[in-house]
This record gives sequence, C-alpha cells and structure tokens, in this order.
Amino acid sequence: MNMAEKIAKMITESKKVSVLTGAGISTESGIPDFRSPGGLWQKFDPSLLSADMLQNDPKNFYRRGLQVLEQINAVKDVKPNKGHYVLANLQKEGKIHCIITQNVDGLHTKAGARDVIEVHGSLDKGFCVVCGKKYSFSHITSLVKEGKIPPLCSCGGLLRPDVVLFGDMLGPHYARAIAEVRKSNLLMVVGSSLEVAPVNHLPDLSSKLVIINREPTLFDRDAVLVWHQQAGKALSQIYDQVQKIAK
Ligand code: APR
Repeated sequence: MNMAEKIAKMITESKKVSVLTGAGISTESGIPDFRSPGGLWQKFDPSLLSADMLQNDPKNFYRRGLQVLEQINAVKDVKPNKGHYVLANLQKEGKIHCIITQNVDGLHTKAGARDVIEVHGSLDKGFCVVCGKKYSFSHITSLVKEGKIPPLCSCGGLLRPDVVLFGDMLGPHYARAIAEVRKSNLLMVVGSSLEVAPVNHLPDLSSKLVIINREPTLFDRDAVLVWHQQAGKALSQIYDQVQKIAK
C-alpha cells in the first residue's frame, strides 16, 4: 500500500477524525508561510505581532506589525486550493469530523468547510479593546492608511485585529479544539511545523497521529505515519483512495 492508500484506510476506519492545518496548506494559494525558507518570519520580526507591542507601542505595531498581516491579506483574489477543497469534501461526506486551523486566512470556510475551529482567530475581523465593539479588518486598515495610527474606536479605545498575537491567551476556540481532538481516534496534521504552543500540544492528545508536511517536524517520531509531500497533492491522492474504499 502506498501512503495515500494507508492514510485513506486509516480515515475510513476511524470513527472520529480531526484535522489540524497550518500555513503550509495555504502556500499553494499563494500565501507565504512563516518558517519555510523565505517565510514571513525571515522578513519580519515576530515580536512585531505581539500583544506586548500592541499594548506598549501601538504606533509601531500598526506601522510595522500590520504589514505581516497584510502579507496574508494582500494576496490578490486569494482562493482556496485543492487541499482546502478535499478537506471540505471529506467533511461533507462524513469522513472527517472537525477541521482545526492555525490559519487566519478563512480559506477552509471559503472552500465549503463548516464550523472550522480557527484557534488563532480570523483576519476579517477586529474589535475595540475597551468597549469590545466589533469592526471589520478592512475598516482598521483604512484608518491606518488615512494616517490614523493607532486606529481608535468611536469610544476612544484602541482597535485590534481579531487574531491571536504572541503572548495572547487562546480563547474558547482552543478549548473546543482540545475537546474535539481528545474525542478523535485520528488526528491528521497538514502543513504545520508544529513549532508554536499551545496548538502543538494537540498532537499529544490524539490516540493516533498522521503528519503530512513538506519538511520534517518535531512531532514526526510520535506519528504512526509521516508523509513529506505537498499538501494539495497528498490530499488529492488520499481523496481518490477514500472514494475507492467507499465504493
Ligand atoms: N505542502 C505541505 N507542507 C507545506 C507546504 C505545502 N505546499 N508549504 C509549506 N509547508 C510546510 C513547511 O514545510 C512548514 O513546515 O508547512 C509548514 C508551515 O510551518 P509554519 O510556517 O511554521 O506555519 P504554522 O505551523 O502554521 O505556524 C503556526 O505560528 O507564527 C505563528 O500564528 C502563526 O499560525 C502561525 C503559527
């Protein structure tokens, strides 16, 4: 059996399958990841996207940190790729039950996935840190473009994007992800270096771990199967094998 056949067999034999994705599933849509050669953390200092920077130096956060988020948001008419569509279809067909993502690009939902757990938030929204009033991310970036740095709420409070910054506590989405993985017989990780806590604690909670990633990760030794392959290609082959088994 080849890798695709082995993973397809595991998926079809597992009662509950959760999937955890990272930036690697969106690179084939043109969005750079963070830690590959040429990734965002080779161009920008990660501390620019920290809660500490936002709190203590909001001008710097909005002058330089926002550029990182705009790199993700700026990809012109970015579209889901075949990896996103395969996961959405496997979810629709009841073969996978929960999609957890570290990505803030919204591409799983755009591909038709439902109830995606976005543990690092999503880039289309923002809110006021004082009164909690919600704003769109585009409203925040337009204030910045008008030179209103830092962007403020009508109440005078500081506006921030609704994404998890370094140093932020992870909210209820992460708690839900923990519960879902604990209930799963299989966790399939796709396109993540698994270098960032606490999300990289999820693989420890799964009874069986499969990793599909272009490069090795720190968790490869804990996985029952590791496939160093492009996400789109691997997921398409797995989907074809799942259809064969389902016949
Ligand atoms: N197919 C398969 N794997 C890929 C592909 C691809 N097309 N492109 C990149 N990869 C792999 C890379 O080899 C890398 O190991 O995806 C992984 C992406 O790792 P990171 O860039 O570290 O992204 P991620 O794991 O999602 O980072 C987690 O870190 O900076 C924070 O909040 C940010 O959510 C992000 C978190």
